[in-house]
Amino acid sequence: MTKPTILTGLRANNDLTIGNYFGAILPMVDMAKQKAGEYQINMFIPDLHSFTTPINHDELQEQIMNNARLFAAAGLPLDHDDIYLYRQSYISAHSELTWILNCFTGVGEMGRMTEFKDKTAKIGDDRVSVGLFNYPVLMAADILLYNADLIPVGDDQRQHLEFARDIAERMNSRFGDVFVVPKPVKEQHEFFGKDQGLRIKDLQDPTKKMSKSDDSGKGVIFLGDDPEAAAKKIMSATTDTEGEIHFDREKQPGISNLLEILTLLRGGDLQQTIGEFEGQTRYGEFKKVVANETKAFLATFQERLAAVSDEAITAKLRASESAMTQTANATLRRAQQTVGLRPKDS
Ligand code: TRP
Repeated sequence: MTKPTILTGLRANNDLTIGNYFGAILPMVDMAKQKAGEYQINMFIPDLHSFTTPINHDELQEQIMNNARLFAAAGLPLDHDDIYLYRQSYISAHSELTWILNCFTGVGEMGRMTEFKDKTAKIGDDRVSVGLFNYPVLMAADILLYNADLIPVGDDQRQHLEFARDIAERMNSRFGDVFVVPKPVKEQHEFFGKDQGLRIKDLQDPTKKMSKSDDSGKGVIFLGDDPEAAAKKIMSATTDTEGEIHFDREKQPGISNLLEILTLLRGGDLQQTIGEFEGQTRYGEFKKVVANETKAFLATFQERLAAVSDEAITAKLRASESAMTQTANATLRRAQQTVGLRPKDS
């Protein structure tokens, strides 16, 4: 019996922040560790998705490798038989199935995707690629090729996941059972459970998400930041004039953000962190605690990252890519037969 598959991809481009680490990478790795054994875990690097918006292509190769190293440094067990780690572009079925699915996808339905609309609004029609436009089709192929049931994604990817379900159902109702339809998003949420809901905000403007696109970089802590410099960023984080520490995202977004960051860095519980600092009046001292914890976390993480063996990573990628090519090609063949590109008995 094959095990049910959990599948997830994390985009490779751009410098990742502690927000990406605690919000995406670490939860993914923890989930993989917890569910492997009972489930097959497909973690992949969607490198074809990396340049749906413009990037520096000289850096892509290094970013892809770094992505894989990050998973390992975050604790992904490379020697587990149920865990596969692969690069999307190394398995050509992704591109091939995308083409087939493209031809069953409406221009209108792609144009309604929020991520597409937002980016188009930001950078303008002429600079938006067709790749960005039909990126959800490639994402659907990523999922359907492996008969994946469960796909842990954030809210921003929810619409794309719904599309993967739609296109699978559309193909199945037209051609008979071609694809496994991923579980409804609601069931996925039930399966993966709610995390603590902690989201790291920008240090200079704690009303917005900490994001690599911040211009000055002062409000953002990157995983590659010098630990000392990162501690300074914490010390100069925006707070308020209330004069007392309380967890209140509305009135004290800066202090609340620091309380959340500290909780994530320590791997603890928010209520406990709040209990420790509630009512205290010395913001400077509190910041120092957060700054020290940040420094220690980055130093340890960077050490672990440097210790990741590239040979081990490459071996894992190659083995996974070879195994997953078999799975993906079997699904692709089914789709090709369905649409008449291959004889039914081939
Ligand atoms: N689009 C996802 C993101 O930007 C990455 C991704 C690509 C993905 N293909 C996927 C996630 C398939 C889950 C399943 O975060």
